[in-house]
Amino acid sequence: MLGKSGYIIILFLLFTAVFALDGCDDGGLFADDEKKYRVGLSQCANDTYWRKQMNNSIKANATQSKTLEIIKITDGENSSSKQINDIEDLVREKIDLLMVSPNEADSLAGIISAVYNMGIPVILIDRKVSSNQYTTFIGADNKEIGSKAADYLNLLGKDRTDILELHGQAGASAAQERSYGFNSKLDKSKNFRHTGDLYCNWSRSAAREAVTKFWEEGGRCNVIYSHNDDMAIGAWEALDSLGVNTDSITIIGTDGAAGEDGGIRAVVDGKIDVTFFYPDGNEEAIEYAEKILSGEKVPNYRRLGTVQIDRNNAEGLLGQMTMSRRQEDRIIAQNETIKSQSGEISGQRVWLVLISFGLLTFVVMFIITMRLYHKDRLHNVQLNEKNAEINAQKEELENQAIYLSQMNEQLRVSKENTLGSIRSAQTIQNALLPTEEDLNGYFNAFIIYSPKDIVSGDFYWYGSETSDNVSTFVLGVIDCTGHGVPGAFMSLIGINILDQIIKQYKITSPAEILERLNASIRTALKQEETENNDGMEAALCRIEIETQPDGVTKKYTLTYEGAKFPVYHYKKLEGKMEVYKTARREIGGKFRNIESSVGFEDHTVALSKGDRLYMSSDGIGDQNNFERKRYSSRRLVSAIQESFSLNMHEQRDYIWNDLKQFKGDCIQRDDITVMGIEIV
Ligand code: FRU
Repeated sequence: MLGKSGYIIILFLLFTAVFALDGCDDGGLFADDEKKYRVGLSQCANDTYWRKQMNNSIKANATQSKTLEIIKITDGENSSSKQINDIEDLVREKIDLLMVSPNEADSLAGIISAVYNMGIPVILIDRKVSSNQYTTFIGADNKEIGSKAADYLNLLGKDRTDILELHGQAGASAAQERSYGFNSKLDKSKNFRHTGDLYCNWSRSAAREAVTKFWEEGGRCNVIYSHNDDMAIGAWEALDSLGVNTDSITIIGTDGAAGEDGGIRAVVDGKIDVTFFYPDGNEEAIEYAEKILSGEKVPNYRRLGTVQIDRNNAEGLLGQMTMSRRQEDRIIAQNETIKSQSGEISGQRVWLVLISFGLLTFVVMFIITMRLYHKDRLHNVQLNEKNAEINAQKEELENQAIYLSQMNEQLRVSKENTLGSIRSAQTIQNALLPTEEDLNGYFNAFIIYSPKDIVSGDFYWYGSETSDNVSTFVLGVIDCTGHGVPGAFMSLIGINILDQIIKQYKITSPAEILERLNASIRTALKQEETENNDGMEAALCRIEIETQPDGVTKKYTLTYEGAKFPVYHYKKLEGKMEVYKTARREIGGKFRNIESSVGFEDHTVALSKGDRLYMSSDGIGDQNNFERKRYSSRRLVSAIQESFSLNMHEQRDYIWNDLKQFKGDCIQRDDITVMGIEIV
């Protein structure tokens, strides 16, 4: 689904996003600001020319640093309390290192110690504090500067001994040390003297006013030693505007800053005679800060050198230093440009990242959607195919159902027809069977006759023959092979043959009847020539009732024989049941007959009034129940015995109910016929 080009697009977008995010070294999304150490510079004041240049140089140098940035330069405005506040603000802005030019040595000592003790490294630049709680001090030796000024003066003539000293801020270490260095180095033999000490707080305008006032009040001097160039220039301006011949006064300054307003230019212009270069330590401060922040140890004092600048070297130095100052200005300007550009680039990168992610998200969503769509479509196609298949199957099933219902209908009709035919056949079969009433004319009798399938392969037979004093009755229960229609056909054949034998040929011997029945069946069913092997099992009784010569007494004789089925004889006088077994062979059936060597034989037994005889097909004994047990001929005998006291009708019901109870809802297995006769 996602083709080759799709993967290429995703890879491209990922690379773009990763590239845009990877901005540590070139000002990417997460610009340098995030990773550089934060350095704060607390200045005692920003008003003097020298200090403005110092700030410039530090800024320019810091832009070259890869590890730190100057986050802020604060202006103490020559006020120690203001500077203390400034330092506290810088700490709040989470600086990693503090650079500080303390306004006054004593006043700033406390806050600087506190910062140092917080674990923030502190670099003192140019001015010191009155404690040693700081990391390092970078600056020139102000005593040396003062003493060099004295050395310069010691070489001059005798007319340069009246000194006006212009002091920087009284509490500032630079002012104190310069003064000390100067005064202690003056040649005692030359009778130097101070005609005045003016405290002008490093300020040009303050010096201008103070010197004007000094001169106007009658103060005089032929040397002015100033702790910085600003105040020296201010003094010159005062004298110049007072119309004093400034050549008659040696003006000594300190700082030697380059630039149009700096001390070197003042020397070149002849305003001041000499100045002593006071390095601001900007390069060293950045270098030390980087080292400290990277965990390197630095010395606690970096002493910077000084140079005397007078008419001999001022011009050359001015050129060099001006160039380097311009260079610094350019660097700062470039840095500003870079910063604003990197801001823009950062913005662009943010957009690039956002757009890349947007595109990436879109592509991914698109792919997912397409996949889902495709999957869905595939699923739908499969569903449709399945549906079509199911519909076809359904149609097929419906057709089959229609076909089946047609078949069912046909079957139903055909069954109806068949049932109709069978019921007609049943009527015919029933018409051929004797009724209980036929028997009851001579005996008390019952018949249980229950075909399995409407018509029966069982049948019972009854015929009588009467002579002067003997009434002969032949009764039998015959079970033809099979049940239902084929059984019924056989029964018709059997009934017909028995009718012939007994009624036509007047044969009443059970054995002979059975022999003839056997022969006739085989002939009728052409069993010699065909495969037909149907047959019958039977029990036959002949009962002869002979009226004795007294005309009243009767003699009852039973002659019985059967094909497998026994005859049960209940002897009323003895109150006991006899079971008479019969020949162990069947009637009909080619093979069984041929194999059988057993002949039929009559057996004769005397009967008494009230005796009962029972014959039964094997249907009742073979009936099973749900436990797959057979009702059995033994249970039939028991049922008969249990119900001797009942009359024949009641006994029939008893036996039938016993069978029903045994069988439960099991289907009837075979045709059932039981015949009971009581001699009356
Ligand atoms: C500037 C300044 C310089 C001087 C230095 C001494 O504020 O007055 O002129 O050299 O401070 O710390």
